[in-house]
Amino acid sequence: MASDFTVFLSEMMRNPREVSAIAPSSAAVARRMTEGVEEVTGPIVEIGPGTGSFTRAILNRGVAPDRLILMELNPRFCEELRQKFPGVTVLNRPAQEIEQIGVTNLGCVISGVPVLARPQIQREVVGRAFNVLSAEGVFVQITYSPNAPIPAEVQAQMGITARKRATVWANLPPARVFEFRRRAQ
Ligand SMILES: C[S@@+](CC[C@H](N)C(=O)[O-])C[C@H]1O[C@@H](n2cnc3c(N)ncnc32)[C@H](O)[C@@H]1O
Repeated sequence: MASDFTVFLSEMMRNPREVSAIAPSSAAVARRMTEGVEEVTGPIVEIGPGTGSFTRAILNRGVAPDRLILMELNPRFCEELRQKFPGVTVLNRPAQEIEQIGVTNLGCVISGVPVLARPQIQREVVGRAFNVLSAEGVFVQITYSPNAPIPAEVQAQMGITARKRATVWANLPPARVFEFRRRAQ
């Protein structure tokens, strides 16, 4: 099987806008993206898993494969994910369809989908995820920007707040991890 890096790079050259990164996320980013997943209840959905850096970290934290659903646009990545992670549900569907996959009360959504500077995607992906997250559910997003990838006014309109969880220098490029939660009433 080709290495994750080779598969990632070849798909990035074919679909630069979708893949939107030059290499799979490092293990250091994956650890920060998945902190606390072992404590959440309910299903977990990962969107934009690519070659599975975060998927591996979620499973390494002890989450049972049958609690995890992956939504990935790229069919080649989906094939790789099915081979690597038996027992995990891999859907070749856009994250925008998260309300239509038959799960509610999600404990957590882990996102590698590029949302920065894409207001329509912010509403369609993050907004819809909150319709199926539990009241305490958390949406975790990787970004390469030092600031929250969703502007404050859009967060307010969506009824969510952001907190920077981490800056991870050991990644190409350096990455930030943000978590979004519902605003207190
Ligand atoms: C920056 S890569 C991140 C991959 C992986 N999470 C990582 O960090 O190594 C973005 C991934 O999101 C996928 N993607 C982009 N738009 C998507 C969408 N609307 N729904 C699902 N996946 C999407 C791409 O195909 C790609 O696998």
